[in-house]
Amino acid sequence: MKYYITTPIYYPNSNPHIGTAYTTVAADAIARYHRMIGDEVFFLTGTDENAQKVFRTAEAEKMDPKVYVDGVVEGFKTLWKALDISYDDFIRTTEERHHAVVRSIFTKLYEQGDIYKSEYSGWYCTPCETFWTENKLLDGKCPNPDCGRPVELLKEESYFFRLSKYQDALLEHIRTHPDFIQPHSRRNEMLRFIEGGLEDLCVSRTTFEWGIKVPFDPNHVVYVWLDALINYISALGYAEGGGYARFWPADVHLVGKDIVRFHAVIWPIILMALDIPLPKVIYGHGWYMSKDGGKISKSRGNAQDSFELIRRYGSDALRYFLLREMQAGTDGAYSEDGIVERLNSDLANDLGNFISRSLAMLVKFRSGLTPAPGQDCPLELELKELSKEVKRNTERKLDACDPAGALEEIWRFVARCNKYVDETAPWALARDEQQKERLDTVLYTFAECIRILAVLTAPFMPGLTPRICCQLGVEESVISWREADQWGILAPGLAVQRGEPLFPRIDISEFTSKEEPETAGEPEFEPIKAEIAFEDFAKLDFRVARIISAEKVEKTDKLIKLEVEIAGVKRTVVSGIAEHYAPEDLVGQRVILVANLKPTKLRGITSQGMILAASHGGSLEILTVGDRMPGGARVK
Ligand code: MSP
Repeated sequence: MKYYITTPIYYPNSNPHIGTAYTTVAADAIARYHRMIGDEVFFLTGTDENAQKVFRTAEAEKMDPKVYVDGVVEGFKTLWKALDISYDDFIRTTEERHHAVVRSIFTKLYEQGDIYKSEYSGWYCTPCETFWTENKLLDGKCPNPDCGRPVELLKEESYFFRLSKYQDALLEHIRTHPDFIQPHSRRNEMLRFIEGGLEDLCVSRTTFEWGIKVPFDPNHVVYVWLDALINYISALGYAEGGGYARFWPADVHLVGKDIVRFHAVIWPIILMALDIPLPKVIYGHGWYMSKDGGKISKSRGNAQDSFELIRRYGSDALRYFLLREMQAGTDGAYSEDGIVERLNSDLANDLGNFISRSLAMLVKFRSGLTPAPGQDCPLELELKELSKEVKRNTERKLDACDPAGALEEIWRFVARCNKYVDETAPWALARDEQQKERLDTVLYTFAECIRILAVLTAPFMPGLTPRICCQLGVEESVISWREADQWGILAPGLAVQRGEPLFPRIDISEFTSKEEPETAGEPEFEPIKAEIAFEDFAKLDFRVARIISAEKVEKTDKLIKLEVEIAGVKRTVVSGIAEHYAPEDLVGQRVILVANLKPTKLRGITSQGMILAASHGGSLEILTVGDRMPGGARVK
């Protein structure tokens, strides 16, 4: 079977945050599950770069827009890597492969009369990249409940797309395909919206040049949403590409509830007009909300740095929290305390503890070798029954794009495993020679439960699988979804080992404590150097430099190679900060560079400048400025 799943393509006008991470991690878990059941999977993500707001942000940064988006896109890719996202393709809408498809579709729709030229007079919300008619505005502002920002008046010649012509066909499709828009509450919202009547959509702009030019009228650029939605087929090489023939229609477009409307109205109508099949499911999940009730977003400034969260809790625990806390059909509550709570209770206490105590007993009572089991008792039969039920339900939940529901099921099995340890009390069996065979059965069942848990958790926490396999003394090839409810898979005689705890408990105050550390033995300050003349100081040229990428210099402990941007120009700088910063923590930071220092070679790499850092008593902190300062700004 083939399986095609997509995330939205994100605007690269700011770095990814925990909200954008949710959709990507959820799609990744579903894609991984489908690979495990043997499907041929295509998992697509990417960036929506031709937006006016992206252009405006670059402009405000005084940067060439392409150089700007290149930098932000690197940040997306670095985060996806740190979160173990297994995408098969990453489409950027500035790529020619995408432009060519958008141009040909626009021309085709024009030639067949579905796009026509007229004049647009109305309002535009740039943050939402949405056209609004006067009567839809709320107090003269964007009516989108998450936005409410000022709108701009537009009066320009535009091309229009005949949405109205396809209104009835779309309603018919939604009514006859009950699973097309999910969850069902969103389907009902969409039905009501379409029944209210669709107006033709303005699909070109003339007041700026950033974007895809209309091929037969190059004063116009294609409206960003028309352009963006087409990514789902341009990435497959529409219309001739083998990927398109193999994977279209998509099985699921996973999106946030904010953009269901674009996917459930504009996208199907484009496809109907092109006479190609519609995607099978558009799933609109809820939002992660902060404690104060606002949506987590860059513009609200309530998004924590995802790299820092990964550094603190690890990618698996962060993925687990994100997937577990967003219940189907509702919003999820985001807080760092919430991550710690899930980590300490579900991961350390429930899962980690079961694995570590059962392995400890295997080590203690059977020298770490899995014994051959004897006869099953009702307790084992009950576990076996439950594993079948849990596997079935997990599959059902993942088919319904509900990873939280799937994890809830899996944790029913975790809870049962812990109860099984208490009920069988192996420590008591070990004291009775008569119970040797019973103890063998119990200990073997422990090992099988651990294997089953490694299988079931694999799509959600891919970094955990090899760690469990290592402790269990098996190759990763033993991780087979089909065998998640089969028993007797592990050969007796495996050498298990009790390794590091899989999820050490975390004390949140470690990260939130404001108290100063003990001051015993204060480090000494370096003496101040000899005076210099102002003219000497004035020779130094300090600039803000935006870090685009960072990587450790191979075979060194201290050096990091940075790619920085100053006034739209890239430079390489080698810096001795690797003992204090992880490369991924540096991307996006705006540091201070001594920009006119003579280049020097470090480990064969030419370093064009030096970044400033404060250091005292063994700790070091780079000097940074906020994002109001573009790369290239003077520091004096
Ligand atoms: N570029 C458009 C999408 C075009 S798809 C053809 C866009 N980009 S976006 O950068 O604004 O990303 C929006 C998506 O990010 C949401 O639909 C959702 O998937 C995800 N999220 C952004 N903030 C979120 C939360 N606070 N919580 C959960 N998901 C969130 O819209």
